[in-house]
Amino acid sequence: MLVRMFTSQLSKRFARGATVALACAMAACSSSSSKPPAASAPASTPAMWGDMKPVVSVKELMRDMIDPASDYIFDSVKIITTKNGTVESVPKTDEDWAKLRIGATTIAEGVYLLKVPRPFTPAGDENNSTGPEATELSPAQIKAKLEKDPVLWNAKIEALRNVALEVLEIVKKKNTGELWEASYNLDQACESCHLQYWYPGDPALLQKVDRQLEELYGKSPSAAKTHKP
Ligand code: HEC
Repeated sequence: MLVRMFTSQLSKRFARGATVALACAMAACSSSSSKPPAASAPASTPAMWGDMKPVVSVKELMRDMIDPASDYIFDSVKIITTKNGTVESVPKTDEDWAKLRIGATTIAEGVYLLKVPRPFTPAGDENNSTGPEATELSPAQIKAKLEKDPVLWNAKIEALRNVALEVLEIVKKKNTGELWEASYNLDQACESCHLQYWYPGDPALLQKVDRQLEELYGKSPSAAKTHKP
């Protein structure tokens, strides 16, 4: 499975690379007749801004990066019940705010790693996708859904990024009051993608989650492109 996924991604990359190379060759051809060749880019550019290659599957990226980063945000505000009643726990120290900043930065930047083609699961892991108790799609089913509509996958990525950017703004202003809502929005952004790709259940629930994100950011997650602060 893993090998097959990589092979198909590789062949696609090669196909794309070939088109680009051909276009460049043609451009060079037409320009060489009229003007001297343009100065080449600084030698350091290709090495510094190279291709991105995945290390882990989507599942592992979630478990080891996106999920732990989100806990910094989810755990930043809570209601603690003691025998004397309930107290609200909010960030107070610089260290508390730094944790939130780390979480939001990791998500805002890290979520773009979901744009790098990678397997959905480690080799041999088929998710809970077979038998009567199946709750999850198989990696192949998830991949097929993504390939059918890559724009939607990217929209889900942007929706999560929007929430992370919102949290970064909150950190700048140290606005504890807005953290409750941001934490809720974060949960919605995760669910909006999971309900679409990982454990599709009730379509009405997905619609509800998407509608709430749309109300927040003024456009549907499937149309969301950029964050407007
Ligand atoms: C763009 C889509 C997308 C977004 C946004 C997203 N996820 Fe995921 N996530 C997935 C997919 C797809 C899987 C299932 C991968 C698989 O098992 O095939 C997954 C799986 C997971 C898992 C299971 C990991 C495991 O070891 O079983 C966790 C935990 C998780 N996501 C947490 C989160 C959290 C928390 C957020 C929000 C902060 C989030 N995800 C946002 C796509 C997304």
